[in-house]
Amino acid sequence: MRLADHFTIRNGHLYISGYDCVALAEKYGTPLYVTSEDRVIERFKSYKRALGARYPNVQVLFAAKANGNLALLRALAQNGAGADVFSSGELHLALEAGMAPEKLLFNGSSKTPADLRLAVEKDVKVSLDSLDELHQLDAAARAAGTPAKVSFRVNPALSVPTHPKIATGLATSKFGIPHKEIPAAYREALTCKHIRPVGIHCHIGSQILDIEPFARTAEVMVRIAKELTEMGVRLEFIDLGGGLGIPYHHDTDPAPTAEDYAAGVVPIFRAGVEACGITPELWVEPGRYLVADSTVLLSRVNSTKSAHKRFANVDAGFNLLIRPAMYDAYHEVIVANKADAPLTTEYTVTGPICETGDILASDRKLPALTAGDIIAVLDAGAYGYAMSSQYNSRPRCPEVLIRGTQSGLMRRGETVDDLMTAMERPAWQR
Ligand code: LLP
Repeated sequence: MRLADHFTIRNGHLYISGYDCVALAEKYGTPLYVTSEDRVIERFKSYKRALGARYPNVQVLFAAKANGNLALLRALAQNGAGADVFSSGELHLALEAGMAPEKLLFNGSSKTPADLRLAVEKDVKVSLDSLDELHQLDAAARAAGTPAKVSFRVNPALSVPTHPKIATGLATSKFGIPHKEIPAAYREALTCKHIRPVGIHCHIGSQILDIEPFARTAEVMVRIAKELTEMGVRLEFIDLGGGLGIPYHHDTDPAPTAEDYAAGVVPIFRAGVEACGITPELWVEPGRYLVADSTVLLSRVNSTKSAHKRFANVDAGFNLLIRPAMYDAYHEVIVANKADAPLTTEYTVTGPICETGDILASDRKLPALTAGDIIAVLDAGAYGYAMSSQYNSRPRCPEVLIRGTQSGLMRRGETVDDLMTAMERPAWQR
């Protein structure tokens, strides 16, 4: 199986950025998320470099929903990243990580009054999803006595080649304002005393392996930019969103790079803004591309059995990685302690959750397994821990960060006490 450069196989063991996955599993226990900070930073820099080589003012906003660990956000912040935040929680984490407020965009299709107040208080730009929200934010800004800087999220009505649950720019999806209604929305924003429209935003979907839809999006966005500029809106940024995918099927998926993305998108963007006579910042919001392949989920085989097929029962399930159950997503699997053994036996790798759908990987050729073997689930850094739960009252596992020659916890494992800390005893049970 083709592996990214930060993976190696030595003496039969899988290594990530120079670390023996088997040794990490021994040291920290399983299940365990292991993330290579160096890999994340390399991917971030490649994104910034690819766009920056083609346009002078570029801001890369990491989509914090993909992986919200503070240590990771801090590493990205130290390298100049901003963030797309989708909740007050993500906003607090991004600020705590040291990201500058001017490099944040508060996105979301359903913000609370408290969310809007927080954005105003922290002077963070807001991507508005409706006219209702526009007027609520105007009121919040008036109450705070500071203007709010905004963009509207454009729904470009583009269908994209990805799983329907993660296509976000379809005419029928819940996100944004139909592109034809965008000029009217800005006209209305210009009448709001406490609102400054300064940008436009869109995001067409996730895990997209074809550059073409991103190019189409750029066309729509610069066309809208022209209309808005003529209307008197002074655009400081145009945000094209995230969505560049990764090759989860290592040997067969296309693997577009940040270079491919930039080469396909930036010339259209550049020509478009030049035609408007403006030089707004180009913002992008990659999540998965920056973090997915930085991380493995290590899980120990509890038992094997042969029923209608051969199962390997491991200690991580959809409580820790829900993507296979939720989107039928595919993740490559390597037996970390038998990484160069022949692939002789077909297994379905199943988790410990009380649901038939708790399958991490189906029908995979692996070396013959015995209890105690360590399974590495690859490409688990995006929407992995971030979407985990305590279902079946299972404390979440720890997360380890490695960088250079150092490794350390970036989140401790939860305990059974953690399961109960937020629970209250109602008065009648006291
Ligand atoms: N910007 C906005 C407004 C978004 O909603 C998203 C992702 C991104 C940026 C980042 O997209 P990315 O570059 O990571 O594709 N849980 C799903 C993915 C959901 C994506 C939601 N929005 C999965 O595991 O595949």
